[in-house]
Amino acid sequence: MITIDKAPVPAPRDAGSAGGPLLEVRDLHVEFATRDGVAKAVNGVNYTVSAGETLAVLGESGSGKSVTAQAIMGILDMPPGRIPKGEILFHGQDMLKMGAEERRQIRGRKIAMIFQDALSSLNPVLSVGYQLGEMFRVHLGLSKKEAKARSIELMDRVKIPAAAARVNDYPHQFSGGMRQRIMIAMALALEPDLIIADEPTTALDVTVQAQVMDLLAELQREYNMGLILITHDLGVVADVADKIAVMYAGRIVETAPVHELYKRPAHPYTRGLLDSIPRLDQKGQELYAIKGLPPNLLRIPTGCAFNPRCPKAQDVCRTDVPPLLQVTEQDGTELPGRGSACHFWKETLHG
Ligand SMILES: Nc1ncnc2c1ncn2[C@@H]1O[C@H](COP(=O)(O)OP(=O)(O)OP(=O)(O)O)[C@@H](O)[C@H]1O
Ligand SMILES: [Mg+2]
Repeated sequence: MITIDKAPVPAPRDAGSAGGPLLEVRDLHVEFATRDGVAKAVNGVNYTVSAGETLAVLGESGSGKSVTAQAIMGILDMPPGRIPKGEILFHGQDMLKMGAEERRQIRGRKIAMIFQDALSSLNPVLSVGYQLGEMFRVHLGLSKKEAKARSIELMDRVKIPAAAARVNDYPHQFSGGMRQRIMIAMALALEPDLIIADEPTTALDVTVQAQVMDLLAELQREYNMGLILITHDLGVVADVADKIAVMYAGRIVETAPVHELYKRPAHPYTRGLLDSIPRLDQKGQELYAIKGLPPNLLRIPTGCAFNPRCPKAQDVCRTDVPPLLQVTEQDGTELPGRGSACHFWKETLHG
């Protein structure tokens, strides 16, 4: 049995330089100094993303999804944040060891981020075309005219109707879904290798959510980018992600190819998340909810952080932190890309 925590399983489709994955996060720890003590927001995260691959990062509010993304993007508030341990390899190079200028070259150009709230990310007093065009003028040195043409092209790509007529409109003149498309356009402008989308559709209503998600998936395939899709909505990721990493209290507790995770979860927390999704075929039944609250990051429970809420918890769960282990079939055959950080993953998977 191998421990994924210590030796990450290589991703199936590696297309980064030197044959490695595009992005590899290794044993990442992030903590925040607060008035009440040190909040351990990220406690040893490992994951990889290859070109053309979508990793969905799932977990309840406060599980460390965004903080991990901010560390990758190099936009963590430091202080109060601190990265006491870990590596973030991009094309095989540890970004945590890079200087500020090298980091800045990657941010936006090579790794772009899409946030939940387009209104607060876009400047309200500048036209959308100006803000898009700025990317081309500043980073690629294009003339005003060329930049405008490229902006219209990009607005077309993200399917904004009548792009040429709307390029001089201001953010508030667009609907929420259209604004999110503009955010996607901004992220794509410099053709990055990796996009991190942090709850890109949470603020939208359900039908618009699906459209924006489909667009993102389509463009990701077209540009062969890596995509990290952060969400707390399992329903959103089924069709677009290749693999899922489930986070709890700053750790990855389960990782699996997307459809396998839905069919056969190997962690009681994942099972709880799945059971709490409304299903059309089970109308009228009471929806399951995971009992209790996520842990206080100033005092993460000893052993498995999920133990106080876990229906399967035994004594060992209260004392020993379960490492993320390779998951196997009953006959010992390894299930590729699957790991679980549960002492009782066998019972959960096969039981
Ligand atoms: N600047 C900060 N100072 C102190 N604590 C912080 C700071 N930024 C984040 N945290 C804490 O780190 C923890 C993880 O936060 P994070 O934003 O990563 O959660 P998340 O998984 O993205 O949740 P959500 O689904 O609500 O977005 C939270 O408890 C949060 O309060
Ligand atoms: Mg978040």
